[in-house]
Amino acid sequence: MLGLLLPALSVLGLLGVSPPVTGLPNGAPTSACESMMPRHQGVQPQPPPPPYTIRVSTRTSTAGQPVQVTILGPDYAGVLLEARSGSDTRALGSWQTPPSNTKFLTCSGNQQGAITHSNTNIKNNSTVYTWITPSGPSSIFFMATVAQQRTVYWLNVKSEPLTISGVSLEGGASPVAVAGGLLFLLPSLLLTLLYSS
Ligand SMILES: *[C@@H]1O[C@H](CO)[C@@H](O)[C@H](O)[C@H]1NC(C)=O
Ligand SMILES: *[C@@H]1O[C@H](CO)[C@@H](O)[C@H](O)[C@H]1NC(C)=O
Repeated sequence: MLGLLLPALSVLGLLGVSPPVTGLPNGAPTSACESMMPRHQGVQPQPPPPPYTIRVSTRTSTAGQPVQVTILGPDYAGVLLEARSGSDTRALGSWQTPPSNTKFLTCSGNQQGAITHSNTNIKNNSTVYTWITPSGPSSIFFMATVAQQRTVYWLNVKSEPLTISGVSLEGGASPVAVAGGLLFLLPSLLLTLLYSS
């Protein structure tokens, strides 16, 4: 059984028979995390601009805060959704329970790093994705590949930037550390002033 199946699968692979990621009926694979691109040679993306925009519930956030993300535009069947910072291709933050007809995709070693479709049922602007803000980046944006159907998809659907503000308790200079540093520095500063005059 396996002896027959494996050669058959590799022949299909060589012929490039695999469909585009967003055309896969049950979602994009982890190998698509970075490029967010379908790998099928025959099906080109639609030219920009996409008919989709990404609406984000807030323009600023702090670590741990949930943010609601919605894809506005025509009904869609397939999606791959990630948060990114700058030109870094890592998927940032952590998605919460996926809405119906979608699921988590492991990206950048994070099991909740991305969201993809779990079937080709219609998704629309009532499909709301919830994302938890990470500590670290000072600004992120959401980026998606959105497919209306197997052969009709857009890359690079991007949101406006989301600013991540506030003093994070882990990492960064805490007020106590700053005060401690001043207490240590002030006497030496005074001594320097005394001896230099
Ligand atoms: C979105 O799709 C769902 C399921 O098909 C449907 O029940 C709902 O009315 C749609 N919402 C909008 C705003 O189109
Ligand atoms: C959501 O979709 C419905 C049906 O297409 C439309 O009437 C409504 O204006 C949309 N809402 C937003 C916020 O785009």
